[in-house]
Amino acid sequence: MKLPTYQEAKTRNPIAYQKEQYKLPRSLASKYAGRTYYLKTYGCQMNEHDSENIKAILEEMGFQEANDYKTADLILLNTCSIRENAHNKAFGMLGRIKHLKESKKDILVGLCGCMAQEESVVNKILSDYPWINFVFGTHNIHHLPEVLEESIKKQQLEIEVFSREGNLIEGMPAHRASNYKAYVNIIYGCDKFCTYCIVPYTRGKQRSRKKEDILQEVRQLVKDGYQEVTLLGQNVNAYGKDLKDGYGLSQLLEDVAKTHIPRIRFVTSHPWDFTDEMIDVIAKYPNIMPSIHLPVQSGSNRILRLMGRRYTKEEYLNLFHKLKQKVPNCTISTDIIVGFPGETKEEFQETIQLAKQCQFDNAFTFIFSKRKGTPAEKLDDPISLKEKQERLQQLNEVVNHYFLKSNQSLIGKIVPVLVEGKSPKKKNQLFGYTDTNKLINFVGDERLIGKIVDVEVTDAKTWSLDGTYHE
Ligand code: SAH
Ligand code: SF4
Ligand code: F3S
Repeated sequence: MKLPTYQEAKTRNPIAYQKEQYKLPRSLASKYAGRTYYLKTYGCQMNEHDSENIKAILEEMGFQEANDYKTADLILLNTCSIRENAHNKAFGMLGRIKHLKESKKDILVGLCGCMAQEESVVNKILSDYPWINFVFGTHNIHHLPEVLEESIKKQQLEIEVFSREGNLIEGMPAHRASNYKAYVNIIYGCDKFCTYCIVPYTRGKQRSRKKEDILQEVRQLVKDGYQEVTLLGQNVNAYGKDLKDGYGLSQLLEDVAKTHIPRIRFVTSHPWDFTDEMIDVIAKYPNIMPSIHLPVQSGSNRILRLMGRRYTKEEYLNLFHKLKQKVPNCTISTDIIVGFPGETKEEFQETIQLAKQCQFDNAFTFIFSKRKGTPAEKLDDPISLKEKQERLQQLNEVVNHYFLKSNQSLIGKIVPVLVEGKSPKKKNQLFGYTDTNKLINFVGDERLIGKIVDVEVTDAKTWSLDGTYHE
């Protein structure tokens, strides 16, 4: 049993990280052949990619994926802590699973991901959910086989959550969700400690993968026919800072571009670490997609300072305009939080002004959610939830208007689209994403799936485009 502690999660270890090779103990290979698993993922792309690793590990152990949690022998929730509603979703699911477990006593139930890293969550599991079989943290994914074995052997709740990140684990297998698009981790953790955010506690210290390991993974994906990689990190622009060898994101992007993978994306960019050199590389290589996620969070300098974001509105705008100027057709999306503790009506209006000025191509908007253990938890928060909801709605009306405007500007143009599959909603239609990361639906032959093709944009909605494919 190893429980999480925030005290440890907060500290930043000065040591350099060593590589460690993942290996499944031979005695566990295919041990559970014939049994099934169901894995439910909440949260960001990092969690989605962790789930790809978890699936592959379970499959090495012999488990096969079930379509429904009700029929699975093992149910695992890969959870997210970012806002209260992510918590509520996971606890809601645990309620349904408890009900199922009353009639199917033999099923194994596990919880992993960011919630597992939270002291308060693990304490709640110990007191209120002792029927859960195992819990493991974001730094313990490679130990899943051992944790599972321990819990089966002991027939009781097994918890392994390291609060100090360990080595950099290489060589974990991945059951990727797509045959065309792949996630590639480049940097783990986050050292920014924005005052509202729980990620630095749940994901630990910022640590970069070695460039050789990243490039080798990308080259293999190219060989396997992948068309797109998304380089992942909570703050990809800080890539390499911990390695202190002068090799950063701009060099890495350039080397990844030279593998000739047709499309490269990267998330998320923190404005603080975005250099001119990076902008030049993005502009130079046609296989680096002209689409950047650049969270701004607020348009008020006082709120940005309270959030610990380390830039002013003016600095953000400067970077924004530089990107638009230097990277042709570049789309920029963002994240915005409304109702940060003490945000005045005027400060919120500054955010509205900024949204109007930037005319973002896409934006994810949130109401501030108090997270246990973060500095913002202690700030006075006199604004009512109703007021915050009204602000969110007002902001959404503004940003949605510009999504539509941005989409409409493409009508009549031919855009390159990576075709991902049959549209889940529209019969006989395919869907894919443009270079600028816009969803487009169009009529076309299934043989186009997995290819990058030219599509003419015929119509635009707020969230998607319609198009026509010409052979
Ligand atoms: N590393 C990324 C963000 C990851 S979290 C970055 O810094 O840009 C994704 C988004 O969730 C954040 O950009 C922020 O807008 C939102 N978010 C994070 N913590 C939040 C909180 N406590 N309440 C509301 N939204 C939050
Ligand atoms: Fe959270 Fe800030 Fe780190 Fe993003 S940069 S993960 S918002 S602490
Ligand atoms: Fe959620 Fe953890 Fe990602 S808190 S947003 S799953 S890093």
